[in-house]
Amino acid sequence: MSEPLLVLDNVTKNYGAIEALKGISFSIGKGEVVALLGDNGAGKSTLVKIIAGGLEPTSGRMLFEGKEFLAKSPAEAKAAGIETVYQDLSLCTNVDVVANFFMGREITRKFLGVPVLDEPAMEQVVEKALASAGTRIPSLRTNVEHLSGGQRQAIELNRFVHFGGKLVLLDEPFAALGVEQTRRGLDMIRQVARQGIGVVIITHIMQQAFQVADRIVVIRQGVVAGDVARNKTSPDAVIDMITGETLAGAGPAG
Ligand SMILES: Nc1ncnc2c1ncn2[C@@H]1O[C@H](COP(=O)(O)OP(=O)(O)OP(=O)(O)O)[C@@H](O)[C@H]1O
Ligand SMILES: [Mg+2]
Repeated sequence: MSEPLLVLDNVTKNYGAIEALKGISFSIGKGEVVALLGDNGAGKSTLVKIIAGGLEPTSGRMLFEGKEFLAKSPAEAKAAGIETVYQDLSLCTNVDVVANFFMGREITRKFLGVPVLDEPAMEQVVEKALASAGTRIPSLRTNVEHLSGGQRQAIELNRFVHFGGKLVLLDEPFAALGVEQTRRGLDMIRQVARQGIGVVIITHIMQQAFQVADRIVVIRQGVVAGDVARNKTSPDAVIDMITGETLAGAGPAG
């Protein structure tokens, strides 16, 4: 594997009496796409929330770029370069694409000694970022509420890359997207990874996992039930890991 970007070391999470994660250990390399698979309730979203600072683990450690790191909030994770990209939730729908892209990081220029927004400069940056990712948005001055889920996702992902993101987490990013938008989304993920960014994608669709991932990690009932290179496994083998068939088959009969 490439140099580890994030190492999870025996991460656990209890919700009251429920042991949602029972000691998760695996790592994510720079430029690596990891597909996180597992049945409903396996613990995938819980794990991703912990990585992104949205949830505190009960125990365990994380190393980010070789240093111990546990974000106490999503803002702290984001500042370190770890971000969850959602389809809708984090964009402001009532302002346009450019405003959303820069949100809090606007480019300014001096006008009569006073800092004002440099709209042309910002437009140029967004145009370049979207074009290089092959994303087509009818107009950068369109309010985000008029854009599709796939377009919103593309804006977020491009913003993440532009501002130096290092690890992006996607929890079922294509659940509401059509075939063509999903294909574009998968292409974009590969392109993001080529820039050295680590990607964790949760999906229930086996085909997507095999299309996009370098490595497949299976979570079953809060433990890692499989951690394999995509080209060294098969959808059938991964289904066995998800359902526990292999482990059950290996145990005593009856
Ligand atoms: N806020 C919470 N309070 C109590 N229990 C929770 C909470 N969130 C999740 N759980 C429980 O933790 C376990 C793991 O849930 P999680 O949402 O991480 O699963 P998941 O793998 O993302 O499932 P899905 O594929 O359905 O999204 C489940 O048993 C779930 O019921
Ligand atoms: Mg989930």
